[in-house]
Amino acid sequence: QGSAQVLVASNRGPVAYTAASDGSLTARRGGGGLVSGLSAIGPDAGALWVCAALGDADREAARRAGPRLDPEETGGQAVRMLDIPPGIFADAYGGISNSVLWFVHHLLYQTPIEPVFDADFIRQWGAYETYNVAFADALAQEADDGAAVLVQDYHLDLVPALLRERRPDLRIGHFSHTPWAPPDYYRMLPDATAAAVLRGVLGSDRAAFLTRRWADAFTACCADVLGAEVRDGSGEAGSGEPSIVYQGRTTRIGVHGLGADADFLRERAHRADVTERMAELREQVGEDRRTIVRVDRTELSKNIVRGLHAFRQLLTDRPEWRERVVHIALAYPSRQDLAVYRDYTATVARVAEEINADFGTPGWTPVILHVKDDFARSLAAYRLGDVALVNPVRDGMNLVAKEVPVVSDAGCALVLSREAGAAAELSGDALTINPYDVSQTARALHEALTMPPADRAARTTRLATAATALPPAAWFLAQLNALRPAA
Ligand code: G6P
Repeated sequence: QGSAQVLVASNRGPVAYTAASDGSLTARRGGGGLVSGLSAIGPDAGALWVCAALGDADREAARRAGPRLDPEETGGQAVRMLDIPPGIFADAYGGISNSVLWFVHHLLYQTPIEPVFDADFIRQWGAYETYNVAFADALAQEADDGAAVLVQDYHLDLVPALLRERRPDLRIGHFSHTPWAPPDYYRMLPDATAAAVLRGVLGSDRAAFLTRRWADAFTACCADVLGAEVRDGSGEAGSGEPSIVYQGRTTRIGVHGLGADADFLRERAHRADVTERMAELREQVGEDRRTIVRVDRTELSKNIVRGLHAFRQLLTDRPEWRERVVHIALAYPSRQDLAVYRDYTATVARVAEEINADFGTPGWTPVILHVKDDFARSLAAYRLGDVALVNPVRDGMNLVAKEVPVVSDAGCALVLSREAGAAAELSGDALTINPYDVSQTARALHEALTMPPADRAARTTRLATAATALPPAAWFLAQLNALRPAA
């Protein structure tokens, strides 16, 4: 038994290492909501972050460091990085997490031929269990009596139940950063897997989601697959939150809509590297042209290809926009170890090139596509964009939709998929679309481009207020406080 009073567990930790040819390791500190959220509880809270080594350099760092990474490299945060064998990690992360659970929750399968649950799946599922056990063992070892453990995301769905077996004294929360699949789709999983994932999450005292919609889908899956009892939370003492009763235990169901970190973003967006990127982009765009910007991971659920088709349709249906608008599409390479992600990235590049070949003129490149990890350039696009296109087929939240209004210089019209969790909070002032409807998306782009500047600015101001309602620190504390024993 250990001494940490607050523990966070996630696949991706706050720091990643790269190795130089001489064997030296360089740490790169990741940004993101969890890092700022955890720092919000302060250094005295005895908080520990347990994460996985994601590659060879991480594994080497984890081995050299022992039970804690060097605090100099983690900004003082106590981090234990688990050295999981590469084969197990590949099957658990690339296989079950990113090719099965991610696809199920984002409804990404091409169902006439996918998914196929065969011997490979059985091996991968075994690895996912092993990987979850490694986390549960580490957390059980590190946690103080009655500590609070916040387990994050679909990589670790089995951890709550595994940890409860080991340490019934702990208060365990689980948070899903993705959507949750509706029961008819979820039931594609092999029966034992479908049940094991739900039982795993139900091992928590409280399972939380980014929007009510995903919480309701989870609840529906528990009722459908496990026959669990659903209570709506009225008439009960305490939180009034809905709950699920299964095998004599009760799990509360919560919702916390993660918001944008305004202080961090505004400060970061006004540094010199961002201003330089703005000048570069303006140069590429050309004088007196409007911009439609988008920023995503190269991720299938982000629907970048249909976004490009919508831009093509705009140029076709409304020729007056030719020469007058540029689509800036920025994409961070993501999960390129999976062939389907590499193929998707290649398709995005091909479709962008086709548009440029078909419509471009000597002085005008319609689509500027950058596939590179460049946060300063993303912030530059946020600041100068006239229109932001956020059209995922399905998304847990989508923070780009919340970050753009916060840093936009002159107001930016937001075209937003109704299938993004963010739509629940932003639909009043965004132009909402069905992400599959390319024609509707093209019309929304036109409407956004022609929105009167005063209207656009007023909407952006209101969007920024809604987008920052629950910044990362408050989001993190809300999860933590909801786990405290009732007074
Ligand atoms: C989503 C998931 C996160 C994940 C992120 C990036 O936001 O909810 O858990 O970290 O995507 O994906 P990656 O596979 O690179 O960690």
